[in-house]
Formats: sequence, structure tokens, C-alpha cells
Amino acid sequence: MARVPFIAGNWKLNHGPKAAAALAMGLRDSLANRGDATLAVFPTALSIPAVLPILEGTGIHVGVQEINASQHGAFTGTNSAEMARELGCTYALIGHSERRQLFGETDADVRVKIDAAREAGLLPMVCIGETLQEREAGRVEEVVFRQLSAAFEGIEADVAATITIAYEPVWAIGTGVTATPAQAQEVHAKLRGWLATHYPAFVAEQTRILYGGSVKPDNAAELMSCPDIDGALVGGASLKAADFAGIVAGAVA
Ligand code: PGA
Repeated sequence: MARVPFIAGNWKLNHGPKAAAALAMGLRDSLANRGDATLAVFPTALSIPAVLPILEGTGIHVGVQEINASQHGAFTGTNSAEMARELGCTYALIGHSERRQLFGETDADVRVKIDAAREAGLLPMVCIGETLQEREAGRVEEVVFRQLSAAFEGIEADVAATITIAYEPVWAIGTGVTATPAQAQEVHAKLRGWLATHYPAFVAEQTRILYGGSVKPDNAAELMSCPDIDGALVGGASLKAADFAGIVAGAVA
């Protein structure tokens, strides 16, 4: 079964409401004829209200970069999945390596946040990936399988198939060093194999596994031509409408 390509832009802590609105307008215009692809952007939470009305009706989804495990309460400085859903978000990014490395998010946090997203009606996009040190020590499979097992612990098959996985080797994020298509495909095939051994066949067939880490217009098409790479989670290059549109064009080519 062919999986529909999925390209997502992680804007990280960039673009306040004005710049985010301008970027959203650029995306609306440059992605009008994008063909068959799922698209989403993750603005900083403060810019989500500026972006949503511009993208309404375009089919470009808006997601939240961080959610708390709780929907409300005494948790200063975080976001609620329910509140993001109320605004009009569709996706929640969970377990990005910057959240893991800079904010101490653990595999266990990722697991509870998947529940929080689902309770609120948001679709989880779960990020996993090894550090350079782990890769050099030959531990890629061990690390990504550990992250995946923790994230999917106790998750039923029909729910598992609604989770998007983003494989983002930490050494490729924001560094300009992209995993080669062969390196990325090797890990993606293993991740799909993991799904196939833990779930009925339809889960591995349907689940979209995105690659992230220095994806640009000039390397997107080759990466996404790999059989187990179903799209991209794009950081830096998602901040320019033309670059993001170039990546989308590479994905649907
Ligand atoms: P990058 O970021 O494209 O700037 O490497 C990817 C990400 O962090 O999702």
C-alpha cells in the first residue's frame, strides 16, 4: 500500500506572530498545487493563533511543538494538548531531541505525552534518533528500538498506526550534515521491521516514518525516493517558503 508523503516544518523558537504570519502566507501561495502530500507546520506556541487563520482551508495542518502530560493545572510555562486542540491544532510533536537534550524529556515522558495528545484529539508525531557518540559506538539500533519500545508501550495496533514517527539522527539536526539516503533507509527499514514484529502487518504498512536532519530542497528527492522514507521533518529549511515548497516538490516527484 502506498503511503502518502508527509512533510512537516518544525519552526522551533523562530518567528514571532508577525514573521510567522508572513511565512504562512508564503506557504499558502507556494504550496497551492502541491499534489498528494500531507503537510504540517509547527510554529512556536505564541505564533499558532497568527498562523491558523491564514492556513485555514489550505489543508496545511498546524501542530504544537511541546505539550505537557497534563491538560491543565499548576505547570508553569508549558502547553496543553487540549488547549492546542481548542485553538485548531491537529498534531503534537513529541520527544524532539532538543526537548530530550535541553529539557530533560525522557522516554517515559514521551509515552505519557502520547496519551495526552490522543486524549485531546491531537495526532502524535514522535521523534527518535541516536547521537553521534551512540552511532560511533555501534548502538543505533539499540537506541532507536529502546525509544520506540518506550513510546509504543501498551499502545493498541489501531492507535499505533495513527502515530507518525520521525527518525532524526541528532548529529544531523541543524548541522548541515545529512544522513546519506543509504544510512537513513537502513534505519527506517529497521524501524518498520520493529513495527512489523510488534503489530499486525497493517501497522508497519501504514505508519509514516519521516526522516529529519538537515533536509534541504537539493537532498529531499533522493532521501524520499527510499522505500521506507515517507517524508521529512524539516527544521532550518522550513523557515523559507520557497525552500519548504522545494522539499515538498521533491517528496511528491
Ligand atoms: P534541521 O532540523 O532540518 O534544521 O536539521 C530538523 C529538526 O530538528 O526537526
